[in-house]
Amino acid sequence: MSLTKLIQTLDTELKQAQAENRYKAPERVICGYIPSTGKIGPRYKLVGQSGSYFRMNSNSYLSLSNDPELIAAADEATKALGVGPGAVRFIDGTFSQHVELEQTLAKFIKKESVKIFNSAYTSNCGLALSLTNKNTYWVGDELNHNSIIRGLRISGVSRENKGIYKHNDMADLERILQNVPSGIERVVVVFDGVFSMRGDHAKMDSIIEVCKKYDSNFKDGVITVVDDSHGIGAYGKTGRGTCEYTGTLDDIDIIVGTLGKSFGVNGGFIASSKEVIDTVRQKADTYIYSNSLGVAECAAATRAVKITDSPKGLKLLKNLEDRTTQFRSSIESLGIESVPGATPIVPLLLKDPLKVRSCVDFLFKEGILVTGMAFPVVPKGQDLIRCQINAAFTEEDINLVVAALKKWLESN
Ligand SMILES: Cc1ncc(COP(=O)(O)O)c(C=O)c1O
Repeated sequence: MSLTKLIQTLDTELKQAQAENRYKAPERVICGYIPSTGKIGPRYKLVGQSGSYFRMNSNSYLSLSNDPELIAAADEATKALGVGPGAVRFIDGTFSQHVELEQTLAKFIKKESVKIFNSAYTSNCGLALSLTNKNTYWVGDELNHNSIIRGLRISGVSRENKGIYKHNDMADLERILQNVPSGIERVVVVFDGVFSMRGDHAKMDSIIEVCKKYDSNFKDGVITVVDDSHGIGAYGKTGRGTCEYTGTLDDIDIIVGTLGKSFGVNGGFIASSKEVIDTVRQKADTYIYSNSLGVAECAAATRAVKITDSPKGLKLLKNLEDRTTQFRSSIESLGIESVPGATPIVPLLLKDPLKVRSCVDFLFKEGILVTGMAFPVVPKGQDLIRCQINAAFTEEDINLVVAALKKWLESN
């Protein structure tokens, strides 16, 4: 046996992706972190590069990844219990740090119960596996995250058992709910809270209103699920995400989130009623058959949630909001198209892969890290640069990026 024939095929596919500008650039490697100093936010060192870089593509919106409190919590847990759980949760791989994290999240999210997963990706897959039976009908926004789409696929949801509505289009959602096939007993409507590429948010209040109208048509009702991976810890006055921003915290049935963005660590979770969460524990393969987080990550994430829910967290959220407003209004003044909104994801909608590459390369030379997004990560023709604001940014940092963008525009 040999890999020769397979290698030829893969090589052809990779070259095709390159020719179509879909090939992801080689990964840059971070090897150093320089904390904030006064008017300058954190900077990063890269392997093979001298100088330091300003990072505008981090999901760690509250800059908690490098917070000394989280690092101390992780160290303490590791010293006490080691680095890995040694087994999946139900085979005595459950430690007190897992339980404390679940309880802390439940209190913060204001839901009865929480299960943590090793990522939000596996949370979405596990939730789909748990809620799908032959009489389940899934409804989703066309721009939902890949993990939601993949979750439905691995759960064997057929074309006939799902409907996709146009992005944030409530009339289309209602049309789908009106046309659910007969025999369906459970409808699950699932959507991103903050859409990860465009940075706009789901019209959750309207979605809930529409879903309520059709709830009595189905034996198990119409269930609403938000994946607010980019919203929780970054959006809403107290960081409770899109539910808080849209005033729907009490109405949403199930919340999926990540610990790897605002909370600065790693992992994911599902929050809901005790019964939903117990069902997830019984049925979600991605929970049952895969190791959970280590105690260090759990302890650090618990600390992160507690910080978010404290005066320190409110201060971070306020600076995040102020820097977001500053950047959004600055790029508008430069005439760069974006998606209106108030979330810290600010896309530069350049709509052309070559322009995206030119801008990314230009900013890199100016010491700024951003990432271009092309099909299939975004729809064809919607090529963009996703800029992400961070609570550790200063006013001067944003001015520096805006000046670099101005230079790029002038040189084009
Ligand atoms: C909406 C959404 N869900 C899930 C994920 C996956 O998160 P994680 O890295 O925790 O798997 C992401 C991250 O890109 C996301 O944007």
